[in-house]
Amino acid sequence: MDKIEIVGGTPLRGTVHISGAKNAALPIFAATLINGGQYTLSNVPDLKDITTIIHLLVELGAKVEKTAPGQYLVDTRDAGGFEATYDMVKTMRASCLVLGPLMGRFGRAKISLPGGCAIGERPIDQHLKGLAAMGARINLEHGYVEVDGSNGLVGARITMDIVTVTGVMNIMMAAVLAKGTTVIENAAREPEVVALASFLNAMGAKITGAGSPEVFIEGVSRLGSTDVTIIPDRIEAGTYMVAGAITGGEVELTGIRPALIANITDKLRECGCQIRENGDGVWLKAPNVIKPVNVNTSPFPGFPTDMQAQIMALLTLAQGASVVVENIFENRFMHVAELRRMGADITVVGNTATIRGVQKLSGAPLMATDLRASASLALAGLAAEGQTSISRVYHLDRGYERIEEKMRALGANIRRVKG
Ligand code: EPZ
Repeated sequence: MDKIEIVGGTPLRGTVHISGAKNAALPIFAATLINGGQYTLSNVPDLKDITTIIHLLVELGAKVEKTAPGQYLVDTRDAGGFEATYDMVKTMRASCLVLGPLMGRFGRAKISLPGGCAIGERPIDQHLKGLAAMGARINLEHGYVEVDGSNGLVGARITMDIVTVTGVMNIMMAAVLAKGTTVIENAAREPEVVALASFLNAMGAKITGAGSPEVFIEGVSRLGSTDVTIIPDRIEAGTYMVAGAITGGEVELTGIRPALIANITDKLRECGCQIRENGDGVWLKAPNVIKPVNVNTSPFPGFPTDMQAQIMALLTLAQGASVVVENIFENRFMHVAELRRMGADITVVGNTATIRGVQKLSGAPLMATDLRASASLALAGLAAEGQTSISRVYHLDRGYERIEEKMRALGANIRRVKG
């Protein structure tokens, strides 16, 4: 297995271009199944999870061709399958995003129920609750959930018990061709939800309110196909901003809309960073002294849970104590033990971590456990004295495009050691 080796201590300087967003591309690939047609997707990041969703589409009978860097022609006219197998779903939970599209197109779907994951139990009960409210029958057997709406889905008012991103996406994708209007209350407001709704509307759907807690989907009788450019990855952007801050450097990000990351730039400003925004970019200069801050993760527009581990790495070097509360996932502090191995001073009680800043971190051999935890360890390694090696970096490859190359272009001493 590959490892990443980092020698820390170099302030990062320069410009980095932000890739398309994994969490916007995955649902849009899935959505191409709703209507048999040809779609061109551009600004698609080169990531393992993208390869996985493409494999799943091909398994379901679609044709997918890479036509240029970051560009794919997706042809779903011959897609006829409606089963997402255990092998697929166990590789990537987000495979469950085909549930809504298959219901929209075929009125039935059979997917392997996602198991637990490193960061939490992550059930899909809310996805199924929404489909059942629209008249589908749900049957759980042998680790699979079979959803049958062959009598036709009917619009319904659905109040989500919990704010769920892929939950609202699946219900939206099932409701666009349903009879009547569906209203989703307590809906997730993430930019990726808005991007999916825009894509569906460009196909001829009638969705209003995406980005607000109440989303309306007026069912239509048919859809067309369209082309789309994937929105920038706000979590990748946040990660590079922390890279500049934690190494005492100065970085410029291009290809990112400042509005997408306001909840991250605000927090980094509180830490003492100087930040300037312009049309499609952000400049950050690290503070001389990192200030301690308190962080509470919450659904958009609150502080993203996908940035919790990265900002914790920064706070290990703050002058004073910070409190980080993880409100979204019940097991998202796996990076804490590894950061402690580098000399960080962190105490965890339940979903609350108290981080007392230390003078310095020292490099160490570390183990990645999930995508964002591995990013946090890489950031700590960039600031630490000496060498850090991170194993199981396949986690990183799931969500960061060409991370060593991009970091090296900013002056980092980082390399991949093939395993
Ligand atoms: C999406 O996951 C993202 N993944 C996650 O990013 C992100 O952390 C998460 O949203 C929250 O922002 C993708 O978009 C592919 P949720 P999702 O459903 O949709 C509970 C990354 O690092 N819940 O919003 O699976 C759930 O257990 C990944 O890129 C239910 O109880 O997250 C969690 O505690 C990690 N029942 C909370 O809701 C349900 O039916 C929020 O989960 C659904 C969710």
